[in-house]
Amino acid sequence: MPEKTFHIHTIGCQMNVYDADLMANALMAMGYRPVTEPEAADLAIVNTCAIREKAEQKVYSLLGRLAGLKRQRTTMRIAVGGCVAQLAGKRIQRRAPYVDLVFGTRALERLPELVRRLDAGEGPLCDVAGGEGVMEMDGPRQAVVQPRVSRFVTIMQGCDNFCTYCVVPYARGREMSRDPGRIVAEVQDLVADGAREVTLLGQNVNSYGNKEGLCGFAELLRRVAAVEGLERIRFTTSHPKDLSPALIDAFARIDRLCDHIHLPVQSGSDRILARMNRRYGRQTYMDLVTRLRAVRPEIAITSDIIVGFPGETEEDFNQTLDLIKTVGFDGLFAFHYSDRPGTPACRFTPKVPLGVKRRRLEALNELQNAATLARHRSLVGTTVAVLVEGASKRCDQLDPHGGEAIQWTGRTSSNKIVNFSQPSSTEVPPANVGDLCQVRIEAAFAHSLLGVRAPEAVGLKGEACHAA
Ligand code: SAH
Ligand code: SF4
Ligand code: F3S
Repeated sequence: MPEKTFHIHTIGCQMNVYDADLMANALMAMGYRPVTEPEAADLAIVNTCAIREKAEQKVYSLLGRLAGLKRQRTTMRIAVGGCVAQLAGKRIQRRAPYVDLVFGTRALERLPELVRRLDAGEGPLCDVAGGEGVMEMDGPRQAVVQPRVSRFVTIMQGCDNFCTYCVVPYARGREMSRDPGRIVAEVQDLVADGAREVTLLGQNVNSYGNKEGLCGFAELLRRVAAVEGLERIRFTTSHPKDLSPALIDAFARIDRLCDHIHLPVQSGSDRILARMNRRYGRQTYMDLVTRLRAVRPEIAITSDIIVGFPGETEEDFNQTLDLIKTVGFDGLFAFHYSDRPGTPACRFTPKVPLGVKRRRLEALNELQNAATLARHRSLVGTTVAVLVEGASKRCDQLDPHGGEAIQWTGRTSSNKIVNFSQPSSTEVPPANVGDLCQVRIEAAFAHSLLGVRAPEAVGLKGEACHAA
């Protein structure tokens, strides 16, 4: 029998990307082979996100396209996983009856068994059962979706915080932390497979291990940092209410910890923060920023903001703009508030009209884009260390400054994307994926930097990641 093929389309956060690789590894262990286009797939999986209405709508438009493919090739099977699957279950199959399998976020470990049943002719199937305890899936952890040198490791599942706007605690269940020994072993495996950087993932990594009485997050960072061959560690997401002095201290002590923290603030208004159930205030947030910068002056700080939360007045919004100006973020992910069925904020009034939300979002983005560009411009002329992740998407273009072909893409310790060219002079050895290269920055854009490889090559071993 010819080997079967699969394709995974992932929407949503890094956790979904990590889960996509878990699915891919499980399917490959069954003899399935990944393909880059759904047209060629025997099994097409949509890995879904429910965080905002738009993300959910995208699922159904993607499914519509897959239905068209299935009509042409009736042996094709369509599966829906991830957060929408968990929340909507069988309702997905009622709306899209051509879907053969719905599997929730807690059914990931049962995916091989579910696919075997599909292969045996059973279906349609739906598994959105919960599960007690932490979900552990073994297996060779090949990078199918993620870049091989920069990998995600989920260290905890679910969330207990119940911010009033958020669907995650319902879609991902209660917070559960994985065993630190297993996390370290996984990082060792990833390094053996070519990883140079890992990003530890959780909805609130700062509360890692608290419930289970495991080591705390700062201690976990220390243990992961000790893995030989690893160059850089990142983590996301940090909830400001649980950002401990021990974590701030980790930025002072652990060189491999990158110069970046993503610290979602959501709003600059204390009144709105209270209605969001964030359990910190504006001043607490600003104090954290001061303390982080005291131990790591070069740290890049990024954040998430929701505009137009129910009841947000012009004055509340102005406080958000003011906080943005005061903190000076390196980048922001701003969204307009989206009602999620079943969350408390869904019932909060008054709703902010769509036109007002759009106008506020535009004003906020304008403010931040100018600030991001100014930060990027301040790097022109400096030399930064870049971990090479792969070929640049701009590799068919010439660097207007250096006249050389742009070849590589990677990121600085502060998480800024750098595309760079390789000078043809012989004094600069060719770069490879996974190298930590010194790059001189020549031009700055809103979302990336452009540079040229500098003569002094930096080896992989023994260089602090924020040495540039
Ligand atoms: N656990 C992370 C956030 C995960 S969700 C934290 O607490 O920071 C990622 C982002 O999506 C959130 O930070 C928030 O800004 C945004 N978000 C979540 N629910 C939303 C909603 N209902 N409408 C608009 N944005 C939302
Ligand atoms: Fe959602 Fe809040 Fe949990 Fe983040 S901490 S996932 S915003 S409930
Ligand atoms: Fe979306 Fe689920 Fe992540 S709702 S943001 S994919 S946890």
